[in-house]
Amino acid sequence: MQIQPLATHRPSATRRPAAAPSPQEPTDHYVVFGRESAEIPAAIADVVCPAQMKLGGFPSQRWVVTPEIEAFHRQHISTTPEEKLRDGPNSELKTLIGPMLQTRYTHTQGITVAELGPSTSTTVAETLAHGSNRYIGVDLSEPLAEKQIEFLVAGGAEQFFNVKGDTYALPLQSNSCDLILTSCHPPFVSSTLEDRKLALDEVHRSLKPGGEFLLFPYNEKAQPPEFQAYLADRFELVERRLSPLGAERCAVILQKRP
Ligand SMILES: C[S@@+](CC[C@H](N)C(=O)[O-])C[C@H]1O[C@@H](n2cnc3c(N)ncnc32)[C@H](O)[C@@H]1O
Repeated sequence: MQIQPLATHRPSATRRPAAAPSPQEPTDHYVVFGRESAEIPAAIADVVCPAQMKLGGFPSQRWVVTPEIEAFHRQHISTTPEEKLRDGPNSELKTLIGPMLQTRYTHTQGITVAELGPSTSTTVAETLAHGSNRYIGVDLSEPLAEKQIEFLVAGGAEQFFNVKGDTYALPLQSNSCDLILTSCHPPFVSSTLEDRKLALDEVHRSLKPGGEFLLFPYNEKAQPPEFQAYLADRFELVERRLSPLGAERCAVILQKRP
């Protein structure tokens, strides 16, 4: 599986302490998939930002995929049995998110779907990347993206694309996606309030008017009131479903307000 960089400069993502603000380090994004092209494919040129558009630096103490973490991912992929890298039958991707997507979007065609931080998971792409729909996986970890691509190719999926990108500075054009999803994604589960708002802004910017955001897990009671208000200003709740695992682990579908 080839990885085609859109530019030669490699991202130098690091985790930086808040006390030592980092210089702005622009990073290029990459289109990664098994096709022989260093260009953004025409099929997603209206969605993915052009190569010359640099991602932002890493100004805050947020979780990003460092070279060390990528090295760990590469080792993990090479030493873990494939069954364990795939979405298990009892995973919430299979028991909660897949069924939710099937109920709400099965009959929808012509939509552009972006999944943030899919890792090696395939449920979302397998459920939605059919017909005239387009699926774009956005992740910072190349080894995980490579494995996801391998699984999707083996499963016969066609309408999928993978872009190397940071959720805090999405390489997606404004008003370009019908649906954005995240499951167990650090920018929404283990981030500071400010970073969570930044990630939410990026999702809001990238969605078309009326576009939808599936966020999992989301537990309102555990969210600071400031984040709840921030979210309510930008999105309307249209669906909530509790995980079979309980523990207030909800998946919510939020519709972008104009
Ligand atoms: C815990 S895995 C989630 C896997 C999958 N979505 C699931 O539910 O099983 C987190 C994923 O998010 C990616 N990731 C973490 N921070 C990111 C960021 N700032 N931008 C893009 N991807 C990021 C990681 O590389 C990893 O693939």
